[in-house]
Amino acid sequence: MEYLAYGKTGLEISRLCFGAGRIKNTCDTVEAGSKLMLKALDEGVTFWDTAEGYGTQPHLGEAVRQIFRDEVVIQTKTGAKDYEGAKASITRSLQELQTDYLDVLLLHGISTPEDLVSREGALDAFREAKAAGKIRVIGCSTHIHTGTVMDAVIDHPEIEVILATANKEGRMLEGGSLDKHLAYIQRAYNIGKGISIMKVVVAGDVPEADIPEWIEWGFNLETAHAINLGMTDYPHITLDVGLARASARRRLIQRKAA
Ligand SMILES: NC(=O)c1ccc[n+]([C@@H]2O[C@H](COP(=O)([O-])OP(=O)(O)OC[C@H]3O[C@@H](n4cnc5c(N)ncnc54)[C@H](OP(=O)(O)O)[C@@H]3O)[C@@H](O)[C@H]2O)c1
Repeated sequence: MEYLAYGKTGLEISRLCFGAGRIKNTCDTVEAGSKLMLKALDEGVTFWDTAEGYGTQPHLGEAVRQIFRDEVVIQTKTGAKDYEGAKASITRSLQELQTDYLDVLLLHGISTPEDLVSREGALDAFREAKAAGKIRVIGCSTHIHTGTVMDAVIDHPEIEVILATANKEGRMLEGGSLDKHLAYIQRAYNIGKGISIMKVVVAGDVPEADIPEWIEWGFNLETAHAINLGMTDYPHITLDVGLARASARRRLIQRKAA
């Protein structure tokens, strides 16, 4: 597994990120979900992504309870827009994740520049929680959106991390071409934002036999610090960890040759 700096955030992450938004599809209980997370950790996946809205924070929390907190980097999200809503959401996230701090908290699903402005109240709660040591890093996800929203979030000085859609054919992307979107990601990367990509296998809408090449495309994207894959079962972990390890080895050889 490759471990790398998440942009200029000061966090170190595994390049394969466990996108835990979908584990409720296959794990009936919090315990089953926690076992899946712990299996991934055993395989070296130290970067875990969730959101209050997914209802999977308790699954991660049950896993966190069984390990040392600093073994994992936890990224979660809130859709709250105002100060009070975000403040309450942060409190719930800390409780559900059984932790004193969130490594990364994202504004969930920013779709337009206006949407970012409308979250100013939530950002106030983020700032307060960061000053109190309850959040380490602030960021946003842009879900499937690109175009002017990317300008807005890249130019925002307090947004340290961006979770954006990116896959081999630009599927699901709305608001611009894949080439332009990748140029946005490059710009964000160049100025030190932490970059995670999602929808790498189009939320599962890719023939099973083609999944490895779509995932490899993600790992080949040099401007992505983290490849967020919505694993839901043990075979996914085996396949994705294998691809992550192969990619890490390729990148090491490339760096040595350079
Ligand atoms: N706005 C946001 O911030 C936002 C939105 C969406 C997702 N996310 C995050 O991104 C994560 C990934 O979700 P996504 O929507 O981008 O989906 P994705 O990773 O593109 O697709 C995940 C789905 O692909 C299928 N799949 C088949 N083989 C797989 C493999 N080897 N590894 C992983 N998945 C495989 C599974 O669905 P089947 O079992 O049905 O085949 C799985 O549920 C989420 O869990 C969440 O953490 C964030």
